[in-house]
Amino acid sequence: DVTLSPEPSLTFRTIGGILDFYVFLGPTPENVIQQYTEAIGRPHLPPYWSLGYQLSRWGYPSIDVVKQTVNRMEQYGIPHDVQYADIDYMENKLDFTYDKDNYAGLPEYIQELKKDGLHYIIILDPFLSKDQSRGTYQPYELGQHFGLWVNNSDGVTAAVGKALPPGESVYPDFLNPRTADWWTYMCAKFHGVLPYDGIWIDMNEPSNFLNGQYPACAHNNLNYPPYIPRISDSSLFHSTLCPDSSTYLGKHYDTHSLFGWAEAPPTFRAVQEATGKRPFVLSRSTFVGNGKYAAHWLGDNHALWEDMHLSIIGILEFNLFGIPQVGADICGFYFDTSFELCLRWTQLGAFYPLARNHNALGQKEQDPGVFGIEFATIARTVLQIRYSLLPYLYTLFFEAHAFGNTVARGLMHEFTDDPETHGIDTAFLWGSALMIAPVLQEGARSVDVYFPDATWFDYYTGDKVPASSHNKYISVHAPLEKIPLFIRGGYILPTQTPATRTAKSRLNPFGLIVALDEKGEASGSLFWDDGESVGDGTTRGPFTLHSYSPMIPL
Ligand code: GLC
Repeated sequence: DVTLSPEPSLTFRTIGGILDFYVFLGPTPENVIQQYTEAIGRPHLPPYWSLGYQLSRWGYPSIDVVKQTVNRMEQYGIPHDVQYADIDYMENKLDFTYDKDNYAGLPEYIQELKKDGLHYIIILDPFLSKDQSRGTYQPYELGQHFGLWVNNSDGVTAAVGKALPPGESVYPDFLNPRTADWWTYMCAKFHGVLPYDGIWIDMNEPSNFLNGQYPACAHNNLNYPPYIPRISDSSLFHSTLCPDSSTYLGKHYDTHSLFGWAEAPPTFRAVQEATGKRPFVLSRSTFVGNGKYAAHWLGDNHALWEDMHLSIIGILEFNLFGIPQVGADICGFYFDTSFELCLRWTQLGAFYPLARNHNALGQKEQDPGVFGIEFATIARTVLQIRYSLLPYLYTLFFEAHAFGNTVARGLMHEFTDDPETHGIDTAFLWGSALMIAPVLQEGARSVDVYFPDATWFDYYTGDKVPASSHNKYISVHAPLEKIPLFIRGGYILPTQTPATRTAKSRLNPFGLIVALDEKGEASGSLFWDDGESVGDGTTRGPFTLHSYSPMIPL
């Protein structure tokens, strides 16, 4: 149990175990993250297409509704690179199946989308129904045959919980290398059925609709330890498995937080094997080091203004954790969203490192095409800004991969000496050079933006923010159609003319935004490759890394 206080102080309370402490000395916050990711593993370079706009929902009742949604995006010319399939695509919510009635023709549709430059990502859950008729559900039977599940405390019989699929379910023990091989095999084989481009791994805490497995968690020291930290329901098995369950590396008590962590690498391998390209995996549960294999979304939020604000904190935190490809469900997951909230969220979400609109079953549709022309036009404009800045964003991801930098960055990282920046969670930066100051309040048509001491230019007009506004909060006009954005002097940002898909925008002319500082200087860089080839360092396909510094005589 770890407590932080503003003293500053850190309190660790423990009832046992060995604690290894690593202290990363910086001195700057960016240095700390570079050192931390050097120790835990640097984030992988995401495929370029995954930086495009992603659209998802739980509750597309049929493939026809998916098609209507995709067509709306097309009709309004809204940038769109990724379409998701939540559990609706499955037959009876069973992994490695698809619904041949409501989703008849899905494999062919995926091929069609691919031809059009879109990518398709499918969800997989980490529970396998054990109650299908014998001989009909190979994923379970194979795993059962080889004994690949998390077991009860006896270490032999499978832990049986209740989750989304019909009947009862068992849980793959991803810490077991044989389970990892089975999972990779199943995922890769399923690519022959649905030619997906990436995999979304969900519910991998692991989640269970029961508190502990059948028949109940025994009364012992692991399930009921002498001290329980302040967690949901004050129980270690709230909505998960009993702590005394057995996994390959030890008791679930010790390995609980490693369930999703262990699922990511074999999923990553499977996507790479199946597609032959740079993998994309999106995971709900992550742990130290997962940035090497997975992107992350911040979980089931609500369509509330406050949740939109909190998302900025989550995004900055995951950049500190070395998992920079992170976003929140744009427009909110639970609850019906509203026109204005969804619009403002689309503007903010256009600057999440992972820009995905996602929605829960039963909520009103909230894709950017569904609200009519005014919304669609504003969404298109802001997503075109994202797409035009993708060469810059991709370069930041390269720098995260190569040097461990953050991608979305708190102002504190760049202006550490200015204490006012330390508490700012209403604005953030892409790298060093782009400040995003979203509208976070209903009805607001202006934002109070803090300008640390630097040269700043309005992204839209190129106007310089007067020096008299530095080190102060200034009210910036933000009508419904605009999210305030500022470029920092001293930087050069590579751009590209936007298009509705990255497959197309990548072929368009490049540009540079050159923002000079007070000395008349600026610098920047561009990392560029095919955006999808596999490999690391010297084994990577051809790439180019440009450094820019202008030779402008003053
Ligand atoms: C979980 C996920 C959510 C998903 C739902 C159905 O709640 O967090 O994103 O839509 O399950 O699969």
